[in-house]
Amino acid sequence: MGLEGRKGTMPVLTALRQVTGALHRRLEHRFDAVAELSDASRRPATIGRYAALYSSARAALAEMLASVEGLDFLQRSRVWQSLRPPSITAETSSVFPEPADRCEALGSLYVVEGSTLGGRLILRELRARGVADPELSFLDPYGAASGSMWRSLLAVLEREGSRGPTCLESMCRGAIRGFVHAERILCGEPR
Ligand code: HEM
Repeated sequence: MGLEGRKGTMPVLTALRQVTGALHRRLEHRFDAVAELSDASRRPATIGRYAALYSSARAALAEMLASVEGLDFLQRSRVWQSLRPPSITAETSSVFPEPADRCEALGSLYVVEGSTLGGRLILRELRARGVADPELSFLDPYGAASGSMWRSLLAVLEREGSRGPTCLESMCRGAIRGFVHAERILCGEPR
């Protein structure tokens, strides 16, 4: 998406990327989504892990985020609900960390929504390999609207995170906790 060039005008995004960059790289390294989802025998369990991530996020974040102006939280979380409910395993029953405040919740939402950016690429790669399971559409939930959904989230993050260092710190904490939770659900406990 080439956000590098806009970093100077997006201090909140810059901070979020700084504190979570290594966690994203570790997750990508541990979670070979294309391999997991192209194998028909492993696909249902992997979709179940994503479903657990999204349903636990909705449960933990809805109360604090439903009324945030410009966020359309309900629209976002409705999309996550289209996944079939997860089967319960040790990882998928992991509870999304309860945010202490709205800023922390927004930091966690950055992670959950960010997963759709990678998801688009994963879906494209799966299609290129001839995998055409309609259940995989959750990987690109917004389709043609994905750019505008991401930009509107970033606008809210910049607005709220610029209110002061306390909010920005909370947001960074929420993003870190979101990544740790996502890794636990998608990959199991860190080795
Ligand atoms: C394992 C497979 C994954 C791959 C290959 C991947 C890849 C990517 C790529 C290429 C981007 C940049 C997209 C762009 O700028 O257009 C991105 C962004 C992002 N991804 Fe992932 N991702 C993966 C999984 C995840 C997961 C599971 C999460 C969270 C649960 C996540 C969170 C994020 C976030 C927060 C961003 C936004 C980073 C920013 O601030 O620009 N990703 N991912």
